[in-house]
Amino acid sequence: MRAGALPWLASATLLIAVACGPAPEGPAAPVETAVPFSEAQVRRILQMSPLPPLPADPTNRFADNALAARFGQALFFDERLSADGEVSCATCHDPKRGFTDGRQLAMGQQVGNRHTPTLWNVAHHRWLTWDGRADSLWMQALDPLEDTREMGTTRGMLVRVIADDPALLADYEAVFGPLNRAALGGRPDDARPARGRETAQGPAAPEAVQAWAALDDAQRAAIDEVFVHAGKAIAAYQRLLVRGDAPFDRFVEGLRENDAEKVGSLSPEAQRGLALFMGRANCVLCHSGPNFSDGEFHNNALPTLHGGEARDPGRFDGARVVAGSPFNAAGSYSDDPDGPAALRVRQLRQSSEAWGEFRTPSLRNLNHRKPFMHQGQLEDLASVIEFYSELEGATGRGHHQEQVLVRLRLTVGEKRDLSAFLAALEGSQAAPGLLAPPSQSAPGR
Ligand code: HEC
Ligand code: HEC
Repeated sequence: MRAGALPWLASATLLIAVACGPAPEGPAAPVETAVPFSEAQVRRILQMSPLPPLPADPTNRFADNALAARFGQALFFDERLSADGEVSCATCHDPKRGFTDGRQLAMGQQVGNRHTPTLWNVAHHRWLTWDGRADSLWMQALDPLEDTREMGTTRGMLVRVIADDPALLADYEAVFGPLNRAALGGRPDDARPARGRETAQGPAAPEAVQAWAALDDAQRAAIDEVFVHAGKAIAAYQRLLVRGDAPFDRFVEGLRENDAEKVGSLSPEAQRGLALFMGRANCVLCHSGPNFSDGEFHNNALPTLHGGEARDPGRFDGARVVAGSPFNAAGSYSDDPDGPAALRVRQLRQSSEAWGEFRTPSLRNLNHRKPFMHQGQLEDLASVIEFYSELEGATGRGHHQEQVLVRLRLTVGEKRDLSAFLAALEGSQAAPGLLAPPSQSAPGR
């Protein structure tokens, strides 16, 4: 920036003329910030808040159906939907821990290979999971149910649990209509198709897979229908897990409305952290927009949990899986198979550049969800900031690696400022009714 071009920048306290932001709403009086943000920075800050309304999900007709959400909430907390009857979605996505589990790697029927991400604001993401192997929340929900390391149940068993529980069945039928009885014919209780590298046929195929093969097409279709309905209901519940309204949001509101008191919601320390976040540290390159994620995949070359070379193909595999799934936005279970999400998944190509890339996580609501990163390999926020500062132990910065991260060599003060800013992204608490199974009397809102 040319010195003298903006003489008022010389003063340590910038008086922001609101007229420089888009669509000024308040009176044109200036408001003071603790840090001299430039006009361009202010414009950028205004784009980082508030969290916009949820993007619609036309692939799920039930996405915003309150009864479906209530049914989905019941399933989310139901441990009967697991092989050993002890694991529900909430076992790993524990509401008390920011919908994570506090572990490095997830632990269901067995230890998994990735860290459990939060579900706060999850409906703002276009691709789900670290590798983006689902393109909708409902498609994602189907996966842990049958994953042998996670819940390890089968879609046949899921139908049985719903059919045998009068309250669940009534809720199911109130939303989706009569349960197709063909789904209960034969012996579907323990039936599911082969997953991953499993053998689909012959004596070596897992029993559940053999049971699936023994069903007729009508039975399989009826079971899949219930399975997908369950996914769509769980998705409707997860769409309610929104948390904005953080101190940072009040600060931005203050800039917009010219309200000094609201601007004061962000401490001078956190304001300096924000300047760093957008400036020299350039976190905003990837953690952009009001959910602090560009929705894209990057390779941060993190040290691996147990040392050694990175082995997780990340987005390279995720893209293949989502494109090949019958449950993606373009498939026959989608309620919008020709819409924009369908187009996106049809256009996906598997590219070697994507090897080792993971989706940029949101930075909202970080306070109760350590450890961090796709293997939970960084134990707290201080270690995350330390990593970005020094890139110590960075691995595999070979030909696949985007050369975007540079050693920042942050000072002690800068680290403190950056943490203060991140802490100010903690939203207000969500309705307590969403954090436990729905009670019979009070619907989950
Ligand atoms: C054993 C622990 C475990 C269980 C049980 C579990 N999850 Fe997860 N969840 C994970 C892990 C680990 C990931 C990341 C997966 C990956 O990237 O490979 C994840 C990812 C997700 C995501 C994607 C979040 C994002 O930011 O993209 C959603 C949504 C989700 N789970 C919902 C559910 C639902 C719904 C259930 C129950 C049907 C469930 N999970 C059961 C551990 C679990
Ligand atoms: C090149 C894009 C990029 C830049 C620049 C970047 N990040 Fe990230 N960030 C990511 C990705 C991708 C992950 C997940 C990486 C993984 O697990 O392998 C991540 C993870 C994180 C996490 C962990 C969140 C969680 O849920 O586990 C935090 C906190 C974080 N970044 C903060 C920052 C800060 C602060 C900066 C600036 C100093 C920054 N990031 C710069 C892409 C980026």
